[in-house]
Amino acid sequence: MQPVLLKNNIYWVGAVDYNLRNFHRYSRSPMGSTYNAYLVKDEKNVLFDTVDEEYVDELLKRISEVMDPSEIDYIVCNHMEKDHAGSIERIVEVCKPEKVFCSVMGEKSLKAQFNTEGWPIHVVKDGERLNIGKRNITFLETRMLHWPDSMVSYLEEDKVLFSNDAFGQNVATSRRFVDEYERPLLLQAMKDYYYNIILPYSPLVMKTLDRITKLGLQFDIIAPDHGLIFRTPEDIKFLLDTYVEMATQPYKLNAIVAYESLWGATKKMAYAVGDGLQSVGVPFTIIDVQENHCSAVMNALADSSALVLGSSTRNNMPLVNMLGVIANTKGLKPKNLVGGAFGSYGWSGESAKMIHDELVAMGVEVVAEPVRAYFGPNEDELKACFELGRKVGLALKEKVNA
Ligand code: FEO
Repeated sequence: MQPVLLKNNIYWVGAVDYNLRNFHRYSRSPMGSTYNAYLVKDEKNVLFDTVDEEYVDELLKRISEVMDPSEIDYIVCNHMEKDHAGSIERIVEVCKPEKVFCSVMGEKSLKAQFNTEGWPIHVVKDGERLNIGKRNITFLETRMLHWPDSMVSYLEEDKVLFSNDAFGQNVATSRRFVDEYERPLLLQAMKDYYYNIILPYSPLVMKTLDRITKLGLQFDIIAPDHGLIFRTPEDIKFLLDTYVEMATQPYKLNAIVAYESLWGATKKMAYAVGDGLQSVGVPFTIIDVQENHCSAVMNALADSSALVLGSSTRNNMPLVNMLGVIANTKGLKPKNLVGGAFGSYGWSGESAKMIHDELVAMGVEVVAEPVRAYFGPNEDELKACFELGRKVGLALKEKVNA
């Protein structure tokens, strides 16, 4: 694949990873991903970010289609996680740049990960400007979006934002621009990415969007380091509006019932909870977490505001996949949820109460006592599950209509 011209001597020179299915080892990526890197030709030629180490030859080949890599004067490392900086040692060795720009935390992390001896590292301050000839770059720190070193680079004259992880999506395709791609697939990829990576930092997303507005930044192009590039006013508006929605997490009229079952009793309880939700008109999805990765629950949460979790008890605990779902969900800090817990048991039966307590600790508004079934579930226990679903559904409808 050739380099792709974005505008005025600004090129995409990154790599497409069609086979990636386990993004960062914590989130499934069924559509693959990309490691976008960008090259700007000016009096000083600048490379923005590199690629995963596996793709360094592709990066060098694409750069070579535009210029000899040794002509690169500056390398900007917006973020040093290995999907973007994994090939930086080789690139520095080949390009011998005059300067490598990064944030103050970026320098610390680069030095900890790579042999940076002799590198011409220049630490940029938040808001610092750099002239490269006809253009000026402004560097804006975006700490914790999504690592402490993260920053973005804005090409003032061209109104291009190299946004690094922010605004990314896990999509692998030969197409580079959002306007060439199917909108429903794009939206799903944006949500999956946000809910599994960016979600805990939503307050910082809002702060950054607010800062962009206050600075009066205009965008002709928003070019993230994963996935497709936004280049039309309609698509850029869609992106920013979608980010506000994902960051604020308004209540949505959908529920998730996720369960893990040893011998099928907890599964029956899950379906009875679903019947209860349906009885009050709340759409729901049921997820067997033994058959689905924990990121599937986060993907579904992008469209849901009720979370009902259930597990059998084994050795005084919920089952291990459910424990993984709880840990993953808790760390990603979703907001504005109602929920409940259930689970079957044959011996001691702690899991439903433990899940209930975990939901409370996550800030979920738990609207009913946990429902337990001794073996069964018998008729009364199924009725209790139905009632749990009904109560969660009614509470959610109240939130949505408030
Ligand atoms: Fe795309 Fe934080 O790495």
